[in-house]
Amino acid sequence: MIKVDFKNVTKTFEGRIEVLKGICLQLHNGESHIILGQSGCGKSVLMKCLLGIIPITSGDIVVDGISVLDKKQRRQYMRKFSVLFQGGALFDSMTVLENVEFALNQINHDAKTCRSIAEEKLIAVGLDQNIFTRYPAEISGGMQKRAALARALAMAPEVIIFDEPTSGLDPITGGVVCNLLKDTIAGTGITAITITHDLKVAEFLADRVSVLNKGHIEWTGKESEMSRCGNEFVERFFRASKGIINHRK
Ligand SMILES: Nc1ncnc2c1ncn2[C@@H]1O[C@H](COP(=O)(O)OP(=O)(O)OP(=O)(O)O)[C@@H](O)[C@H]1O
Ligand SMILES: [Mg+2]
Repeated sequence: MIKVDFKNVTKTFEGRIEVLKGICLQLHNGESHIILGQSGCGKSVLMKCLLGIIPITSGDIVVDGISVLDKKQRRQYMRKFSVLFQGGALFDSMTVLENVEFALNQINHDAKTCRSIAEEKLIAVGLDQNIFTRYPAEISGGMQKRAALARALAMAPEVIIFDEPTSGLDPITGGVVCNLLKDTIAGTGITAITITHDLKVAEFLADRVSVLNKGHIEWTGKESEMSRCGNEFVERFFRASKGIINHRK
């Protein structure tokens, strides 16, 4: 079943070149899909369009039959998503527990239910009780990511977006976070979209990968097929990511 359908989506910012030039992409229900691409190629813009944060210029994005353009069903549309933002984006002035409770409050749970869901999700991402009352500045980057993940999961999303989940983390913590993401989405039926320029993340998390370049999807397929997919840009991206530099090209 198709969960998310990008139908010839374009995005042009005023007075600028087209950032998205006709994106056609279908994401399957429950899959873990990675959007790979170089810096500045439009990954974040594509996700903001999906979330309805910025308007598309033409085309359509349909999630479970609801269009991003349908103003009447905007609330139902937005409720389907949760985002794990790049920097974690926790509120500094709230404790870890309050951060998750605050998000839950937005979806009309009573205080007691908020507390128990928040605690359950924080424990599920491997945070210890003694972290719950700390402020974001008092915990490590890896712990902040876990707390942000707990907050995203608490919203019971159908589609979860991981925005550069390993950036800013050392390789070991990045690996731990990747494992955690994989474990948390496995078997849940959640459709996960990860945007990254890190091939290792794709290797680890992807059911399928799409490579974005200059506003187009160059290729979609399994990560294991990337190195010999026949698309010159994709193969070059793969080799460069593996540290194989061809000086003649
Ligand atoms: N609000 C905006 N107004 C004008 N141009 C924008 C706006 N947001 C993004 N852009 C432009 O769109 C292009 C794509 O940006 P985007 O942030 O999607 O890149 P990205 O692929 O996410 O890069 P990175 O990997 O560095 O995060 C860039 O050239 C950027 O300058
Ligand atoms: Mg970006």
